[in-house]
Amino acid sequence: MTQVSAAAEVVTAHTDVHSEQGAHRGEHPGRAANPVIKAHGLAWLEFEKTDLDRTELFARDFGLAVHSRTADELWLRAAREGAPCVVVRRAPQSRFVGVAFEAAARDDLDRLARATGGSVEALAQEGGGHGVRLTDPTGIAVTVVHGAETASATPLQQPLTWNVAGARPRTNATQRPAREPARVERLGHVVLASRVFGRALDWYLENLGLIVSDFLFVDGQRDRGPTMAFIRCDRGSEPTDHHTLAMLLAPEAGYVHSAYEVADLDAMAAGGEYLRERGWQRSWGIGRHIQGSQVFDYWRDPDRFMVEHYADGDLFDSSLEPGWAPMSASGLAQWGPPATADFLGTRPSPSLVKAAVEALREDNEIDRARLMGLMKAMKS
Ligand SMILES: [Fe+2]
Repeated sequence: MTQVSAAAEVVTAHTDVHSEQGAHRGEHPGRAANPVIKAHGLAWLEFEKTDLDRTELFARDFGLAVHSRTADELWLRAAREGAPCVVVRRAPQSRFVGVAFEAAARDDLDRLARATGGSVEALAQEGGGHGVRLTDPTGIAVTVVHGAETASATPLQQPLTWNVAGARPRTNATQRPAREPARVERLGHVVLASRVFGRALDWYLENLGLIVSDFLFVDGQRDRGPTMAFIRCDRGSEPTDHHTLAMLLAPEAGYVHSAYEVADLDAMAAGGEYLRERGWQRSWGIGRHIQGSQVFDYWRDPDRFMVEHYADGDLFDSSLEPGWAPMSASGLAQWGPPATADFLGTRPSPSLVKAAVEALREDNEIDRARLMGLMKAMKS
């Protein structure tokens, strides 16, 4: 007998699929049966940069605020309450350092340390707290943190009131969104590339209890398993972002982009005009994605790290099963300009060729068929 006592149970647990296609029998279930912990969300991202002044200039134009700044360290924050979401340390070379996830409870850190052979450390940095330092199978530093100080909320940008079909709430008033930085409300997700995608995926599902919202596969190679996953936190009946982490199989491992939520489409578009007028480079946008449904606008920061403004993303509770779809460049958006070579990372470059040669030589999940399949997908 079905019991409908809570809103989440109205969606029959683990039987609903939100996309046109679900899993075939025996395919990856998209979640671990018994994960070590269930991470609550993203806490912050860590970078090293050569020039903190330039980093701060772009960050302010992008709509982040400065939480604190010294000669060697810059902490950036979003408008909603939370720990500062980006830390940048001065270094001789610019690079992505790693990602911090937030544990739901202090006990989770002990459990995670025991399961991974790590230890719980007091974090000797701005905001304090405790953390377990791990390295994922790709080689990316992952810190799971708890108890770091949060900054209280600052005023949010107000979404516009739209006159839409069937509802005309705005009369005797004009629509004049200011051409100003789109105020970032919070860090939403990070996208990482890996040569060992399958191993890395299972690592996040087993250790952090993340669950897959959508899988993508190389057309004609579905039997070899997925090559991209959009992964959310498991907060039970509490809806959470469609993806907090997205991961894909690719020869160049590491950071792909990070995404920051803004109030609405107008905030994003006006903020995009502001960035463009200030001379910053748009990578791809504005459009609406398919997996996650959010409206998006992608930019390059001064060190060519890709960052995304987004709004109106999907929220799923833990009951939804993964969707499955073939990977393609045209399948990345419902509307918007065609995906650019800059966004897709397909522009031929010495580093891309070097990465592909290395990836083929190394023992990993990339072989000739996979590489050709991925390249074909990015052209279709
Ligand atoms: Fe994104």
